[in-house]
Amino acid sequence: MWRRSGYLTSVNSQARTILITGASSGIGRAVALTAAEGGDHVTLVARNDAALKHTARLCESAGAASATVSVADVGADDAVARCINDAVARHGHLDAVVHCAAVIAYGRTEDIPTGVFDRVLQTNLHGSINVARHAVRQLRQQRRGTLVLVGSVAGHITSPQISPYVITKWGVRALARQLQIENRDLDEVDIAYVAPGGVDTPIYAQGANYLGFAGRPPPPIASPERVAHMVLKRVDKGRGRTQTTLANQAMRLGFTLVPRVFDALAGPMFRMVLTDRTTAVEPNTGNVFESQGSEERVHGGNGNPWAAIVKNMVAAVKDGR
Ligand SMILES: NC(=O)c1ccc[n+]([C@@H]2O[C@H](COP(=O)([O-])OP(=O)(O)OC[C@H]3O[C@@H](n4cnc5c(N)ncnc54)[C@H](OP(=O)(O)O)[C@@H]3O)[C@@H](O)[C@H]2O)c1
Repeated sequence: MWRRSGYLTSVNSQARTILITGASSGIGRAVALTAAEGGDHVTLVARNDAALKHTARLCESAGAASATVSVADVGADDAVARCINDAVARHGHLDAVVHCAAVIAYGRTEDIPTGVFDRVLQTNLHGSINVARHAVRQLRQQRRGTLVLVGSVAGHITSPQISPYVITKWGVRALARQLQIENRDLDEVDIAYVAPGGVDTPIYAQGANYLGFAGRPPPPIASPERVAHMVLKRVDKGRGRTQTTLANQAMRLGFTLVPRVFDALAGPMFRMVLTDRTTAVEPNTGNVFESQGSEERVHGGNGNPWAAIVKNMVAAVKDGR
């Protein structure tokens, strides 16, 4: 029977089949491990075979009914189709698809190389569309199941120096709303959307960088596990709460109600709050074109955000900026 409540009280006789993209790192890995603790079948999708196999072993130890690795670049439509078809062939159906895979690139719009900019669009936007296309087709065919798209508060506001990320996250939010309208006819098919704020994951260190210094998550910083629970609640309950923190709501409100004030604050806030100006970074493509297996883990080790802000302020005073 289709089960909609008590995620952590799930038992193996009711094990669900959940396909998770971006499952080798950060929020996606935390979703996989939490689902595994609930005794579900998990299919783990990302580009790095070794990191996925490591995640699969962790899921099996945590109690997964099964953990299967499915290597794919979500930017490639045929690869996404293969992952979903393989999971359906293995389990007969899919209860949920949780789409977390994404990359970030730092730098001014005109400074990020064209290839890097375009690849972020390919992964984050086309990847989300590819996953949605094949997931929704399957969910509609079986007339039940949930697609959870993980967006970002960046899809509700703007921020300097991360244009490709912001553009794609606005797109993911639009995609979620489109799908919600298109799938209203089937009661048991749900399209959910979750927009985290700052989360302590490796995405900031893994991203491409043309800023000259490191990026970091804004406070309040949530744990990947907390976001994973929110995501899996949407698997249980379908469409519902989208923002992970009150700070997200405050940012959205400021962006909408007082745009000029928001714009005036966005630059200084980015410099002081969203970067680590004390850590120099050479221009690099990060994990945009290829997985960085060594960085694949749940937590980013981004440290105390308030201490980082103070360090940035001291550096700014010293530099006379
Ligand atoms: N961390 C935050 O503060 C934060 C805030 C708001 C929203 N989010 C969103 O949360 C989601 C997860 O982010 P995260 O912070 O957990 O990131 P992360 O730790 O960097 O993990 C990203 C995952 O995506 C996979 N991936 C990247 N490119 C891929 C591709 N082309 N095809 C398939 N898999 C790919 C990575 O594995 P491989 O590199 O091995 O492929 C990895 O498993 C993203 O949608 C992000 O935008 C995060």
